[in-house]
Amino acid sequence: MNKEITVVAVDGPSASGKSTVSRRVAAATKDFIYVDSGSLYRGVTWKCIREGVDVRDTQEVTNLLIRMNMELFVENRAVRYRIDGVDPGQEIRGAAVRESVAEIAAQQPVRVYIVEKLRTMAAFGSLVMEGRDIGSVVFPDTPFKYYLDADPEERARRRSAEIKVSEGTDDVGAVLNALKRRDRKDATRATSPLQIALGAKIINSTGMGIEEVVQVILDDLRAAGAIPPAEA
Ligand code: DC
Repeated sequence: MNKEITVVAVDGPSASGKSTVSRRVAAATKDFIYVDSGSLYRGVTWKCIREGVDVRDTQEVTNLLIRMNMELFVENRAVRYRIDGVDPGQEIRGAAVRESVAEIAAQQPVRVYIVEKLRTMAAFGSLVMEGRDIGSVVFPDTPFKYYLDADPEERARRRSAEIKVSEGTDDVGAVLNALKRRDRKDATRATSPLQIALGAKIINSTGMGIEEVVQVILDDLRAAGAIPPAEA
C-alpha cells in the first residue's frame, strides 16, 4: 500500500449501517473514495445469472471469472465497474442476485479474484471501503478498522425499509429470517468468514445516530493526522 494512502475499513453484517456511514465518512473528507466491496460480489453473481452459469458450480464460475473483464473506474468519488463493458446498475440489488450472492461470495476463486480487485483500488487514492473482510483480509495493515454491528431486529427493520423502496414490500419478519440465514452463511463459510478484524473498533449502532458513528471514525482520522481538522 502506498504510504500516502489511507484506507478506512468498515466491516460488519448486512444492514448494520456500513453503507451510510462509509459514504458519509468519505463525503466529509476532501478526497476519500467510497468502495462498496459487496457490489463486486453482486456483480459476479449478476454476470453468472446473465450467462446462465450455475452459481453452485465453482468450476463453471471460475471459467467465467477467467473470461470476463471487470473494469474499475471512479465516478463521483466512488469506485464503480463495468463487466464486459456493461454497467449492471440496480440489477445487482434485485431479488435474483440477493438470493445467490452468498453462494458466490463463499467460493475461494471468487474471493481471490475480488480481493485482488479491491487491493488495486489503492491506486485510485485514499479509500473508505465497506465489506466483511476488509480489515481482516483485504487491507489487514490499515490502522483504521471498524466493525459495525446492530441488533438483528434493528437491521431487519432497516433492510425492509430499503426493500420497500425498491420492491414495494416490507415484510420485516421475512426480511429478518432471510438476513439471519445470510449472516449465518457469511459467518460460517470456510473462506474469509465475517469476523472482527484484529485491532478493529467495534461500534454497535443500535439506537445510535448515524452521525455519531461517522464522528467516531472522523475523530480517529483527525487524531492520526489522516485528515486535517478543517476537512470535517
Ligand atoms: O454488503 P452486501 O449485502 O452488498 O454483500 C453482498 C454479499 O457479499 C453478502 O453475502 C456478503 C458478501 N460480501 C463478502 O463476503 N465480503 C465482502 N467484503 C463484501 C460482501
